[in-house]
Amino acid sequence: QGKVFTYDPGFTSTAACESTITFIDGGKGELLHRGYPIDQLAEKSHYLEVCYLLLYGELPSAAQLEDFESRVTNHTMLHEQMMNFFRGFRRDAHPMAVMTGVVGAMSAFYHDSTDIHDPWQREVASIRLIAKMPTIAAMAYKYTIGQPFVYPRNDIDYASNFLRMCFAVPAEDYQVNPILARAMDRIFTLHADHEQNASTSTVRLASSSGANPFACIAAGIACLWGPAHGGANQACLEMLQEIGTVDRIPEFIARAKDKDDPFRLMGFGHRVYKNFDPRAKVMKQSADEVLDLLGIENNPTLQVAKELEAAALADPYFTEKKLFPNVDFYSGIILEAMGFPTSMFTPIFALSRTVGWISQWKEMIGDPTMKIGRPRQLYTGETLRDYVDIEDR
Ligand code: SDX
Repeated sequence: QGKVFTYDPGFTSTAACESTITFIDGGKGELLHRGYPIDQLAEKSHYLEVCYLLLYGELPSAAQLEDFESRVTNHTMLHEQMMNFFRGFRRDAHPMAVMTGVVGAMSAFYHDSTDIHDPWQREVASIRLIAKMPTIAAMAYKYTIGQPFVYPRNDIDYASNFLRMCFAVPAEDYQVNPILARAMDRIFTLHADHEQNASTSTVRLASSSGANPFACIAAGIACLWGPAHGGANQACLEMLQEIGTVDRIPEFIARAKDKDDPFRLMGFGHRVYKNFDPRAKVMKQSADEVLDLLGIENNPTLQVAKELEAAALADPYFTEKKLFPNVDFYSGIILEAMGFPTSMFTPIFALSRTVGWISQWKEMIGDPTMKIGRPRQLYTGETLRDYVDIEDR
């Protein structure tokens, strides 16, 4: 049918890649990080320990974890001159636009950790990104709400530091609610890595040319922002708020099924999972737990989410297409209860996923047989033909 493969004997496709970091069985709804199931890590571990696991392949000893956490803690501050980058944005800039720009700007600052052939510099770049991403995300938020930046502290844990940098103000003392800190840390863990998703593939492809690691992570942030990917958590909560009450659910179910309507149920469906996303199950439990612990009863958004899930899973359109809630379906409900605006949902996803991008970057860059990426194409255009002068057209 005129379809021609671009074939070159020396061609080595990078459409598929080998990795030892994360395994997904979409049919079973299984997600393992270095062999450990996500629900066990979410319940028993914490984000920086999961970062260590993803980066180095094994759970750390107590001494290894203490050293790792200390290295991350001591890199949470940004170079003071980088504050100028925030101030170049319009006040109403989306925090994802700010994060994309500021992380890209790190490539112009941290020159001593951009030589990808130096293992030590790769290590420093990794720690710097994991350490500084919460500071950048929090400052992006503070900038867009016109509040002063709050600097990180070395005497509190990673999740508490992020909450404090987002919600503290100089005018009064701020005590992190341990319930929120635990829920925040669990959200970080649930988003840490997810095999070759679009943004991770973007980081791998950008990095395969040997580009600056900070610029490559900025490319991943840009890709994650899309509503079909990480931007779905913001889109999902806004959809739940638009639905508003359970009696309007049938209207939105009908729209999602209508071929002529571009509307899709945000937080539903997945490229790989054709069963429940295991992260969604943990997130749903966490939403119940956090709202209960915060004394938030009868949260209308959670009510609509649960009724919407039940209605969709009772509808053959969704079950036959194997469309189930994904990681983004319940996360926004927890983040809203924590006090975050919807515009901060995807920056929190980006912050969490940084370790996944970096772990996969290190795995690829550290492979001496690595080749530049060049995904395959199926050419369906015109076959060979001669130029036609304009007077003959
Ligand atoms: C993330 O890849 C990853 O790992 C990503 C991620 C990660 O951790 O990195 O898990 C994070 O991105 C989760 C997904 C977040 N996105 C959303 O929730 C947005 C809403 N969902 C979709 O737009 C959609 O489900 C995708 C983009 C996630 C997947 O799209 P696909 O690949 O087209 O889905 P599919 O091939 O399985 O679709 C099969 C059918 C299609 O209809 P037909 O052409 O067969 O008639 O189901 C339809 C789709 O149109 N469909 C939906 C739907 N999702 C798919 N119909 C209504 N609502 C939906 N949400």
